[in-house]
Amino acid sequence: MSIVDRPLPILEPALKGVRIIPVLVLDDPERAVPLAQALVAGGLNVLEVTLRTPRALACAEAIAAKVPGAIVGFGTLTRPSQFAQARDAGARFLVSPGLTDQLAQAARDTGLPYLPGIVTVTEAIIAMEHGFRELKFFPAMLNGGAPALQGMAPLLPEIRFCPTGGIRAGHVKEILALPNVFALGGTWLTPADAVREGRWSEIETLAREATTLAAA
Ligand code: 3PG
Repeated sequence: MSIVDRPLPILEPALKGVRIIPVLVLDDPERAVPLAQALVAGGLNVLEVTLRTPRALACAEAIAAKVPGAIVGFGTLTRPSQFAQARDAGARFLVSPGLTDQLAQAARDTGLPYLPGIVTVTEAIIAMEHGFRELKFFPAMLNGGAPALQGMAPLLPEIRFCPTGGIRAGHVKEILALPNVFALGGTWLTPADAVREGRWSEIETLAREATTLAAA
């Protein structure tokens, strides 16, 4: 079987229908749980915890174990060894900012849904050759935002994107209206000062506003 004939990864049912994925940069497992609870209360239950800080893995693990309403993906996976680690810590899906042959293999080995990051048409084709059809477009706003995604639609009709990077509330409607976008993500829902100061009701409100925008 050639690499292009591999069965397509199928996003688990819980991810089908997701429109907005908060991207979380966390370093305190104590704060991770109430933060995730606030997002879930605001209607956003699919969360990406980025592995970018010393205690990010512990934060992701805490949310996966203690917030039953949350579906936790682990993001910023840049080394093959992180994939099995993420699966063992309770990840339900995996995200990388880019893609290499080794990352593709490590992702397949976990059996979990995987969103590899791409920017160009060539990178998207390489991801497709690895059997991935749902891709992260990152960093989205630096690389053309909605018009760039729209430009790829006729070239790559089988690809569906989750753009992240620079997306704010004002971009949500335009981007989610694109036929080749299944969801978008970002950190604008979890401002660092609100997380630091434990202003969970403010984060719940941001989540609720985003949920309403996505449904409009
Ligand atoms: C990501 O990993 O998807 C980005 O860091 C999110 O970008 P943002 O902080 O601009 O939302």
